[in-house]
Amino acid sequence: MKAGIAREALDGERRVAATPETVKQLVGLGLAVEVESGAGLASGHSDDDYRSAGASVVGSLDLGSLDVYCHVRPMDPTTAGALRRGAVTVGLGSPSSELPTVRALAVGGITSFALELVPRISRAQSMDALTSQALVAGYRCVLEAAMRLPRFFPLYMTAAGTIPPARVLVLGAGVAGLQAIGTAKRLGARVSANDIRPASADEVASMGGTFIKLDLETAEASGGYARELSADRGALQRALLTPHVAQADVLITTAAVPGRRAPLLVSREMVQGMKPGAVVVDLAAESGGNVEGSIPGQDISIPTGDDQGTVTLVGMKDVASAMPADASRLYAKNVANLLALMTRDGVVSPDFEDDVVAGTCLTHEGAVRHAPTAEALAALAGETAPFGSIQPGTEGVR
Ligand SMILES: NC(=O)c1ccc[n+]([C@@H]2O[C@H](COP(=O)([O-])OP(=O)(O)OC[C@H]3O[C@@H](n4cnc5c(N)ncnc54)[C@H](O)[C@@H]3O)[C@@H](O)[C@H]2O)c1
Repeated sequence: MKAGIAREALDGERRVAATPETVKQLVGLGLAVEVESGAGLASGHSDDDYRSAGASVVGSLDLGSLDVYCHVRPMDPTTAGALRRGAVTVGLGSPSSELPTVRALAVGGITSFALELVPRISRAQSMDALTSQALVAGYRCVLEAAMRLPRFFPLYMTAAGTIPPARVLVLGAGVAGLQAIGTAKRLGARVSANDIRPASADEVASMGGTFIKLDLETAEASGGYARELSADRGALQRALLTPHVAQADVLITTAAVPGRRAPLLVSREMVQGMKPGAVVVDLAAESGGNVEGSIPGQDISIPTGDDQGTVTLVGMKDVASAMPADASRLYAKNVANLLALMTRDGVVSPDFEDDVVAGTCLTHEGAVRHAPTAEALAALAGETAPFGSIQPGTEGVR
């Protein structure tokens, strides 16, 4: 079977779905691998590196000839429509926002796997691209803050005086938040954090942070994810967080609730109550923002309430893509490991009895298997029945 590796089309996307290392893995599975010329350049891999690993390099992929198509960003409907019936695709699908592509995949009879749907279970960890990319994002957002902060992170005791460590506050202690805590600790900051899941207090402590316990009930849904707070609970959380935000030199927000807009944790007034020179990095800017007024890809200067200076509000965008070498190294392993789970003797043949395979599959034989996506498509089309048939037991949380 022939697997094609896309050169990402989206402007600014610098990651790639296979590295020379994973090409070797795919060739070892018995697949013939075709890589689009230049696909790995931004991640540090030349066409020759791919050839040495056993791939052939082509000017552009002949989509209709591929058995397997590997990508990073969600495909557009035209790409999905050019694949042959029965082809297998592996990559990020953003099913809730890319409904036209999902429809094209279903109509085209493509067996598509969306890495956002990988079940959050131990056996699937090596295929979990949300986790691998969140690790990159959590690390990177601390560096973005450090570069904008007009002071040190660590404590310095020098002949010219003592400099106290910066105070870093992290809101949302999932995968990215915990990486942010660990990175800020390694830089020497004094780190505190808050999350609404009950397990998060121990997780924050394990990374060296101090957990801020608010007088607010915890909110956990199935699968270990957070539940959305009601409007009045959200307002109470903001009120309880206000003094902690005011003390922080750096505020990093990473909170998310699957399938929902990012929760608003920090109002403009809370930002205005921070110290002059403080930096706020909103990792959730692209999904609605945890901080009022954040704009993806932009720095905004907000005057402090006392008019003594400004706070820099950074809206993060395409974070993992900003570190394409290691983001691709991890992402490509996620892709290759999922393919390895489905490949025997050079043939990719998904076994839907396997709960990782079944849970990750978005479309198969004309049906949308992910229930929330099928329902969203049906609602979009005004259909009474969901688009395609939903397989039982595939109701993911995202
Ligand atoms: N394979 C695995 O077993 C595996 C892999 C990755 C993550 N997980 C678990 O999945 C869960 C979700 O992790 P994630 O990083 O994908 O989360 P996420 O990206 O969905 O959300 C980020 C964090 O925001 C928090 N949050 C939501 N609303 C909040 C609010 N109002 N205030 C403060 N914080 C808020 C969430 O609790 C979460 O910790 C965690 O329990 C994590 O340990 C398990």
